Amino acid sequence: MVDTINLWSDLYILLSLFNYFNFMTKKALITGITGQDGAYLSNFLLKKGYKVYGAVRRTSSINTARLSDLGVLDKIELVTLDLSEITNIQRVIEKTEPDEIYNLAAQSFVQTSYEQPIYTSDIDGIGVTRILEIIRNMGGSPKFYQASTSEMFGKAQESPQNEKTPFYPRSPYGVAKLYSHWMTINYRESWDIHACSGILFNHESPLRGSEFVTRKISLGMAEIKNGKKDTINLGNLSAERDWGFAGDYVEAMWLMLQQKEPDDYVIATGQTHSVRNFTELAAKAVGIDIEWDINGLAERGICKKTGKIIISVDSSFNRPAETEHLLGDASKAERELNWKPTVNFESLVEMMVDHDLKRVEKGLVWF
Ligand code: NAP
Ligand code: GDD
Repeated sequence: MVDTINLWSDLYILLSLFNYFNFMTKKALITGITGQDGAYLSNFLLKKGYKVYGAVRRTSSINTARLSDLGVLDKIELVTLDLSEITNIQRVIEKTEPDEIYNLAAQSFVQTSYEQPIYTSDIDGIGVTRILEIIRNMGGSPKFYQASTSEMFGKAQESPQNEKTPFYPRSPYGVAKLYSHWMTINYRESWDIHACSGILFNHESPLRGSEFVTRKISLGMAEIKNGKKDTINLGNLSAERDWGFAGDYVEAMWLMLQQKEPDDYVIATGQTHSVRNFTELAAKAVGIDIEWDINGLAERGICKKTGKIIISVDSSFNRPAETEHLLGDASKAERELNWKPTVNFESLVEMMVDHDLKRVEKGLVWF
């Protein structure tokens, strides 16, 4: 009899402890979990002890390769969510009851936004308002992070760019993101929502999509080194970007939501480099010294040793309106969030090329 009572009281204590820890565990909902930042952020939040819900949109084959690469796929709970459907978003938020929502989902490729401007506006612009409306109707919580972008500075009005720099977007993507940036601020000011907008400059990693220029180059160099390709075709070699490491930038997203007062922050390294410069370093990482040569109107990158054309310029990669120069000033984030990048440009290029060399050697290129 006494044993039975003890068993019940032990079970009761265990259940109470379980409920207590369950209550204490913070829950995050990440949209765009299958993308580069989704993978790094879920890894980061899991290490902080969060329960992570990852929102995937329905496709014929869901791309979880990045989550597997970081070893987090079986540690997160996947839920189906498309930013085009408000009822779907609402059900997911009601079901998961997150403390924090990180909205990383977007049609994020600038070039595509010129061909799909209406779709891009719907997902990257109105999609954000859909989430904000739901949070507003829920009385102002959960906390909300919006993935804004340096592409909003576009034809930059000053250099470096900070939170006060006037915006001048140059692509439908940039315009849609600027709309959602201001909606995030407007909902914060109107409805007392803890909403932050992170104005993140370009951030890259071995998990970057291969349509973006850095990964296109690192993968291309690894293929050239392994005799699987001769030349990489690129567009505007003079475009300059402030490139950082994605793993550093997801920490800044989290830090923003942990502040007492919600605000907007520029996240950047404070250094800018041209596509040409990235290419030279990536080539060096596979043992190729490039020299540039103007052939008629077209520039070419030639291997000094062999005379082979490694880089050729293909104007089909040019943009109808280009963002020529981006350079971020993240001093507000450094001051208020105590955030600083840890990976410099040279190490980033090396890291990306190293990973791609290993993948190409093993025949393991999956994105
Ligand atoms: P990414 O790799 O292209 O990932 C985008 C994610 O959005 C993917 O998971 C994609 O799902 C998802 N998505 C696309 N359309 C969707 C829809 N209709 N409904 C739900 N999900 C959808 O982008 P990223 O580099 O990780 O960037 C994350 C966010 O930060 C994006 O909003 C981007 O615009 C912004 N940003 C990025 C940078 C940068 O340099 N990386 C800089 C500033 C801002 P699928 O896998 O199904 O396609
Ligand atoms: N993609 C690509 N392919 N870009 C090229 C190429 C090429 O072959 N050749 C030159 N570029 C130039 C582009 O014209 C652009 O000026 C620059 O390289 C960078 O292009 P992307 O890597 O495609 O990135 P992005 O800067 O347009 O956009 C990325 O960064 C934004 C933040 O500023 C994306 O991640 C966006 O989602 C993000 O908001």
